[in-house]
Amino acid sequence: MTIAGKLFGIGVGPGDPELLTLKALRLLQAAPVVAYFVAKGKRGNAFGIIEDHLRDAQTRMPLVYPVTTEALEPPLSYETIIADFYDTAAALIGEHLAAGRDVAVVCEGDPFFYGSYMYLHDRLAGRFAAEVVPGVCSMLGGAAVLGTPLVYRNQSLSVLSGVLPEDELRRKLADTDAAVIMKLGRNFDKVRRVLEDLGLSERALYVERATMPNERIVPLAQVDPSASPYFSLLVVPGQKWQG
Ligand SMILES: C[S@@+](CC[C@H](N)C(=O)[O-])C[C@H]1O[C@@H](n2cnc3c(N)ncnc32)[C@H](O)[C@@H]1O
Repeated sequence: MTIAGKLFGIGVGPGDPELLTLKALRLLQAAPVVAYFVAKGKRGNAFGIIEDHLRDAQTRMPLVYPVTTEALEPPLSYETIIADFYDTAAALIGEHLAAGRDVAVVCEGDPFFYGSYMYLHDRLAGRFAAEVVPGVCSMLGGAAVLGTPLVYRNQSLSVLSGVLPEDELRRKLADTDAAVIMKLGRNFDKVRRVLEDLGLSERALYVERATMPNERIVPLAQVDPSASPYFSLLVVPGQKWQG
């Protein structure tokens, strides 16, 4: 009887290849199959971080997203298309696992922090052994390169998605000591407006592609909303406490 393979969700950090953990590297190099999510026509961000560490004998398994935006015109539905895609990806990975091959799925930052790996985990972890290797997530990479502590003492931090409706974003931001706002891109204008309304724009710090070679730190007022990339986030640090 074949012993099933194990599924690994491997966090590879926010961009700088030196932020890969020793454990991630060891497991990656041992896996016969390495899977990675990638947009059509792209190289794959997480894959780019670890590519140089792989051996020729390891199978590369790109999982190509069928859509790049959540805003689709009816009758197309992002939710349906993406759920079908994850079903298919999980089935393909399941075939390797059933045949006894371990599969490492690499994920930018941390797999369980907004990482697509979680949708495979949800589908497969009940049937196969699974292990997650945490990675340095983008908000921690962002805070580090922005040179700002996130939270002092007993402050609370909210992690918000820029996709949230404006009112909800305003309410949540008004009610927190510190915040990180992810998924900016085309939401940037709305987020900046809310920060201005709440008098937080002086405190907010913006970074694109934190820890990547093309990292950019730009003052909030100078960000071009039409060019804000997918890999960008905002930090509203907690008020400084003189410890
Ligand atoms: C689908 S989430 C993935 C988060 C990732 N799993 C993590 O642990 O950070 C994608 C969002 O993460 C943020 N992000 C990821 N990497 C980033 C980076 N190097 N610099 C700035 N933001 C980044 C952006 O806000 C982007 O829209």
